[in-house]
Amino acid sequence: MSILIHNGKVVTSATEIIADILIEGDKISNIAPSIKQKADRIIDASGMWVLPGGIDPHVHMQLPTPAGPSADDFYSGSLAALQGGTTTIIDFVTPSRGQSIIEALKLRIEEASNSLTDYTFHVSPVEWSKEVASDIAHCIDMGFPSFKVYMAYKNSIGIDDNALYHIMHTVAQNGGLVLAHCELGDDIEVLRDFYATQGLTSPKYHALSRPARYEALAVKRAIDLADQTQCPLYIVHVSAADSVKHIVQAQKSGQPLFAETCPQYLLLDETLYDTELLSALKYVMSPPLRSHDDREALWKAIANGNIQAIGTDHCPFLLKQKMLGNHDFRKVPNGAGGVEHRLTLLYTYGVLEDRINLSKLVDAYSTQPAKLFGLYPQKGELAIGSDADIIIWDPNAQGSISAANHYSKSDLNIYEGFKTVGEPLYVIKNGVIAVERGNLNHNLPVGKLIMRRSTKTTSHYYKRMDNPGSFNCGRV
Ligand code: URP
Ligand code: ZN
Ligand code: ZN
Repeated sequence: MSILIHNGKVVTSATEIIADILIEGDKISNIAPSIKQKADRIIDASGMWVLPGGIDPHVHMQLPTPAGPSADDFYSGSLAALQGGTTTIIDFVTPSRGQSIIEALKLRIEEASNSLTDYTFHVSPVEWSKEVASDIAHCIDMGFPSFKVYMAYKNSIGIDDNALYHIMHTVAQNGGLVLAHCELGDDIEVLRDFYATQGLTSPKYHALSRPARYEALAVKRAIDLADQTQCPLYIVHVSAADSVKHIVQAQKSGQPLFAETCPQYLLLDETLYDTELLSALKYVMSPPLRSHDDREALWKAIANGNIQAIGTDHCPFLLKQKMLGNHDFRKVPNGAGGVEHRLTLLYTYGVLEDRINLSKLVDAYSTQPAKLFGLYPQKGELAIGSDADIIIWDPNAQGSISAANHYSKSDLNIYEGFKTVGEPLYVIKNGVIAVERGNLNHNLPVGKLIMRRSTKTTSHYYKRMDNPGSFNCGRV
């Protein structure tokens, strides 16, 4: 099967040109101002933009929690992703304490096998032992070189600084990257119980028990441990301006340090916890929503290149699951959905409001996740030989976000009522039209499990720079 995309504005993280793109099989075979070759299908993309497929570096499909699994399984979550222009997702393998990481990885691969997007996993060690050390090395050899550690959630999957040090050291020695969920777990547990014992149990106290300073202090600690162990570090879901300050300082010193934020931290704020209970419950996530000033600092950090990637942390629940904590914020499952809205929200509220330009958008939603997680240039790029994961974007389409018409299986939407501009007219995945004008191709083959390269193969990207000058995350 071949597809010729004719006369679109081809936008990458570095360039914008009017060109044709030829797809043969599952790869891009040519990009040129005018391609004369015949194709099975010709798509006129005049007036449209042709963008690389999205890579969401942070999603949780069917995440097990005490309130039951998160609402999207790999099928519904990946369908939602595709409809929004995301063609690859990176989820997580989180073993129980005592369970072999490799065993958990195999089970998770099985669970994801009906994903419509391509997929891969970060691996989350939840303790430290000799077995964990050898499993980390094994995971990197198998093509899973990134490891998310939780400094929060101390009662379940969170680890202490001793484990964090050893995990970082082992990951660094074997050519991997550590992702850190930075919040001071022990301090949070104290505050949670403090509020709850006083009968202060509404969702607002979820936010008050996880203040921005606890995030920033954890960021500082993780940066320091990463520096000591010479481990490349990626801070997930950064939400606070004070965290950004620590990140900028370490990047200026040349430390290989990368950061991610999510649309919810750019577009929503803490005043939403003051709404009525049924509404406030849906914003219970960790870290919690922050202030207007925090939001502005995050936008600036993206524009300046200090935050490289934008994921969604897609982790939606049903209202009835959230309601399990209506009398105790500690029982509300943490998380919210958004995998299908990432591009249109960033375009509408980022590009159209002049906070970031189009190339920065492409960089943050696709190219940087590919570079950081060992997928580049197979993914995250429009180039000859790259996977034909392509969006044809209608920059004028108008929309309105609602749980009534979203693809996620959740009955809640934290962006309810948000107006949007721009949507994918076509989503092409591995050379097959997956979505055309909102309609899913019912013959679409399932997505592929993607094995990724270790940081050893791209070591210059992850090495400490001696004279960094200004931090440049495009240094691949
Ligand atoms: O509230 C959140 N973010 N839930 C998902 C798990 C995590 O910490 O990323
Ligand atoms: Zn997290
Ligand atoms: Zn997450």
